[in-house]
Amino acid sequence: MTLKKRGLTLEQKDKKYLWHPFTQMKDYEKSSPLVIEKGRGSYLYDIQGNRYIDGVSSLWVTVHGHRKKKIDDAIISQVKKISHSTLLGLSNVPAAELSEKLVKITPKGLSKVFYSDNGSTSVEIALKISYQYWQQKSAKTKTKKKFVSLVNAYHGDTLGSVSVGGIELFHQVYSPLLFKTFKADSPYCYRCPMKKDRPGCSLACLDSLENILKKHSREIAAMIIEPMVQGAAGMITFPKGYLKKVRQLCTRHNVLLIADEVAVGFGRTGKMFACEHEKVIPDLLAIAKGITGGTLPLAATLVSDEIYNAFLGEPEDLKTFFHGHTYTGNPVACAAAIANLEVFEEEKVLLSLKKKIRLLTKQLKSFKKLSHVGDIRQSGFMVGIELVAEPKTKKSFAVRERIGHRVILEARKRGVIIRPLGDVIVLMPPLSISESELNALCDVTFESIKKVTEKV
Ligand SMILES: Cc1ncc(COP(=O)(O)O)c(C=O)c1O
Repeated sequence: MTLKKRGLTLEQKDKKYLWHPFTQMKDYEKSSPLVIEKGRGSYLYDIQGNRYIDGVSSLWVTVHGHRKKKIDDAIISQVKKISHSTLLGLSNVPAAELSEKLVKITPKGLSKVFYSDNGSTSVEIALKISYQYWQQKSAKTKTKKKFVSLVNAYHGDTLGSVSVGGIELFHQVYSPLLFKTFKADSPYCYRCPMKKDRPGCSLACLDSLENILKKHSREIAAMIIEPMVQGAAGMITFPKGYLKKVRQLCTRHNVLLIADEVAVGFGRTGKMFACEHEKVIPDLLAIAKGITGGTLPLAATLVSDEIYNAFLGEPEDLKTFFHGHTYTGNPVACAAAIANLEVFEEEKVLLSLKKKIRLLTKQLKSFKKLSHVGDIRQSGFMVGIELVAEPKTKKSFAVRERIGHRVILEARKRGVIIRPLGDVIVLMPPLSISESELNALCDVTFESIKKVTEKV
């Protein structure tokens, strides 16, 4: 493929005109951009024709591999009918079909689907619905206006979702713009906030949540949580029993539970939804990323009848949920999502995943040999390998050393695309990855960590 198009190469156009997300552009402008042209299965191909394993599922979205025929066909077939019509006051065929399918596969009790187009908006909607629910439920509950979330939480980049976020690095600068929230301790066992060890700790990290709920439940509308794994914080996996206890505490203190399954949903943790690991039923569920198998932007917020019913009334009662994005329920994205769910069923994806999860666990054991690997966390196909300067003291590397970044550049040279979260190396391959590709992904990651950290 010729790189020169109307004077500038694609790399030059990229550097000249594009502003990349979560990227320090001063640094990026000095780099040689990698421009992806196509994908197939577990692989991405750049414009020079180089092939890379997509080790993070194109930011945690690709489920059955790139160019999955069934999903591509569903998209093409829908485009031939109609690409978009609004859900404001009308419906469309795929949106209605998909809503039934989503209600059927999500935890029991969630019965209504509100669409949007990305994870942040699905969270924003969950926050607004839970706030408005208490305003409309009764005169007594109108005091419930606040939210609880966890330290280290990540729920998206819009101001509401940032308000319930807990990652200093991303969120600090916006603090004057945010609404105040209660923050409970994160169950980060490797760096336990209570300085305790598993399993003798009796989940002491829940104390702070319990105290907040005991003291402030009259003011609190909802608790929001990423079930089983705090993803963007560095794949912090929950200790057994933690999520169930959170559900119990919310119920006891009459606080709604919002499960943000944007990252963990659609098979990533080995179950369709992470809440299933502890048989937890949230009051609201936010889903996005893998919903279309990683093809098109779509998100949904599911709620129970109890919540939905609080919004019913005469138009003049002003109980309507006044929210809706232009592309809400886009028919092409919904058609892709239906095909995605059909592939899950037809190919028994979750069943065949079990063996690959075991293989990944086995492969990860060998990483313990590397002298700067502090912690290895895994929940199904979500992995975080935390690199530290001194494993004994758990001392982190200096930020300027950019260890995580250097590791992924080494991996790139070896034909693997991964993206770190600071010094946590993330692996999140498509669920469809073959065993040999999974072995290659682990081998390259191992070699890359070794190469970078043995020099320091
Ligand atoms: C748990 C969680 N919630 C929300 C979001 C935001 O999703 P989006 O980037 O689609 O807005 C993310 C994105 O990584 C996420 O991991």
